[in-house]
Amino acid sequence: MKHKAFRAGLAAPAILFLSLAFMQLGAAQRPQQKPHPTGPWMNTSLSPDERADLVMKEMTPDEKVALLHGVGMPTDDPVTPENAPSNRGVGYTVGVPRLGIPGIDMSDAAYGVRSSGVNGRYSTALPANVAAASSWDPEAAYEYGALIGRELRAQGFNMSLGGGVNLTRDPRNGRTFEYLGEDPVLAGTLVARLIQGTQSANVIGDIKHYALNDQESGRNAVNIHISKRAARESDLLAFEIGVEKGQPGAVMCSYNRVNGDFACENQWLLTDVLKKAWKFPGFVLSDWGGTHSDVKASAAGLDNEQPGRFFYEKRFKDALDAGKIPQSELDDHVHRILRTMFAQGLVDHPRQRSVIDPFAGFETARKIEESGIVLLKNEKAALPLSAAKLKTIAVIGSHSDVGMISGGGSAQVDPIGGNAIKAAGQGATHWMEEIWFPTSPLKAIQARAPHATVKYDAGTDPAAASAAAKGADVAIVFAYRWASEGMDLKDLSLPHNQDAIISAVASANPHTVVVLETGNPVTMPWVDKASAILEAWFAGSDGADAVGNVLFGTVNPSGKLVNTFPKSEGDLPHPTITMPPKESTGFDGAATPEKWAAGLPPFEVTYDEGVKVGYKWYDAEDKKPLFPFGFGLSYTTYRYSGLQVTPGEKTKVTFTITNTGSREGAEIAEVYAGLPAAAQEPPKRLVGFTRVKLNPGEKKTVSVEIEPKYLSIFDEQKDDWSLLPGDYTIMVGGSSDNLPLKGNVNLK
Ligand code: BGC
Repeated sequence: MKHKAFRAGLAAPAILFLSLAFMQLGAAQRPQQKPHPTGPWMNTSLSPDERADLVMKEMTPDEKVALLHGVGMPTDDPVTPENAPSNRGVGYTVGVPRLGIPGIDMSDAAYGVRSSGVNGRYSTALPANVAAASSWDPEAAYEYGALIGRELRAQGFNMSLGGGVNLTRDPRNGRTFEYLGEDPVLAGTLVARLIQGTQSANVIGDIKHYALNDQESGRNAVNIHISKRAARESDLLAFEIGVEKGQPGAVMCSYNRVNGDFACENQWLLTDVLKKAWKFPGFVLSDWGGTHSDVKASAAGLDNEQPGRFFYEKRFKDALDAGKIPQSELDDHVHRILRTMFAQGLVDHPRQRSVIDPFAGFETARKIEESGIVLLKNEKAALPLSAAKLKTIAVIGSHSDVGMISGGGSAQVDPIGGNAIKAAGQGATHWMEEIWFPTSPLKAIQARAPHATVKYDAGTDPAAASAAAKGADVAIVFAYRWASEGMDLKDLSLPHNQDAIISAVASANPHTVVVLETGNPVTMPWVDKASAILEAWFAGSDGADAVGNVLFGTVNPSGKLVNTFPKSEGDLPHPTITMPPKESTGFDGAATPEKWAAGLPPFEVTYDEGVKVGYKWYDAEDKKPLFPFGFGLSYTTYRYSGLQVTPGEKTKVTFTITNTGSREGAEIAEVYAGLPAAAQEPPKRLVGFTRVKLNPGEKKTVSVEIEPKYLSIFDEQKDDWSLLPGDYTIMVGGSSDNLPLKGNVNLK
């Protein structure tokens, strides 16, 4: 559903000092948390489960049911007595104040806290999740999550709706920027650290959208067909790692159907896999409007309906009274919600507003962006630029005089002062609108080349762009492709005639640098003409400084692609996205529980590529991409040597990396495995990685331990992972297509 009522009028952004003043005011006006009662559940030496059981004994049936649903979408709906104590986020579940149980106050927080503008507050926009993932750095992921957790808490929220980890099964998915790439081991490892970071601030962390919501088109209706084995080894493996290692308090089930049932009433996904096989102790909440039933959803394992209460209030109670929902099910839902609140500190550390430090946020955003920018091409060492040698610089395109683009949808963070391309005071942000952050590449470049003449051209007309580029010592073209939740890209090409503009500039100036601001892979008909290409993603609050630092070499780029860039859409497993028929689109605001229960008529999409997501597809099909998974250049060079593979409980892979160039750098070393033929798997899969900092000439010997599961296949008969005996090939190097070290290990 993309329920209009849910989405009307996003955020009028505010100026920073106003927002700080407002925060103080708001804190004074709002009712503060009641003093803690002294019931036995307040004994912090008891486990979260014991505390939940103790408090449940005191609760009335109505208080229990109230924990199972939201009370509308506080951002958009009128203030009701129930959502009055909320912080006007997107979801609110009332607590039990008389027992010291706070409400659960939820905000979207994919790359920063959403809706801060409408609330008169500031929040940091980190670079898009895909940018952070491109650093392959679990510690950056932790910092990313921790900043979000701190800012959520400072704004009075106690639950995050971030943690998106759907795999890039289709690179045209409009939410690719919100996710962590195409590989389950990489994405799962990173999301786990991100969740830990968020939860370090006494905020419930979330992982979403469970599962297989890999296209936005028709997401409320689509029925995804996939074998259990393929699902467990691909998309679900990312969630499995995220849940086991990150221990999020909550899992958000997705809108789509999986093998016949909606994800939010899918017994296999929610109970058999998540709650039983993975032993997830927290609660499952539905994506917004993703609940379609009471009895069926409850039995399948849905614990909390958001943002409203079509099913999990009156209907739930009626079904309970009629014996259609057992009391034990109600108690299990309530227990899971309460134990999560105790485990994440919501009860012991009540939410409390404070003032956000925007400068610290800028610095974190910049550093993460610097480690996630990917240098895709650098012919004749076109980069880094040397300020001393440049007299004229042409900066072209993508509003690079004033800003950088951000990703849309429920992930949208409001820029300070509003949309940078609008006149002052006109910058209110809206759903499905391109929002530009006030971080100016033009100014960042001029600041780093103070003696050069820097000219700007809007990049809307090839002839004008070419004239601007001609004769300049370097032409830097910024090109972008916006993307958002609620849509997929029709294709992977740059819109607004940008391919022609880049070609024209590169023809006019042999020293042309292209900086991409995209969330998705793009095709590049001009690839041979540009001398250097940087993928800067959606670069966040301080993106321009990060790009400036990489362009001028203050920072040596180290990011690597987490998604394959194909040569053309024809090379994808599905050359076209299956679009929904008309009757399977568009729930509207007038929908009733009856309509919701029926759901939109399904349309079928079969993931017959199965486990072959991303590079596994290109490997298996022997197709050469434009830029492969794991690829990224540096201003220095590295040598790999001395591979040793030692079997054991965890196979240990040891090797040496030497920085053979003249600059300090960080190299991401990637470890892949080829399984025995009997496994019938694609040629290789990522099984580990490490990021190593090296001074010029320095060498380090590092070890990566491989989890047995990462070498296993999912055996549908046993309904479990199985490590097949046989010969495994271990491959190590700096890109999925360049793995100089190879060794064998016989397991079992
Ligand atoms: C999105 C979720 C989001 C929710 C609340 C849904 O449309 O799919 O990711 O958390 O809305 O805004």
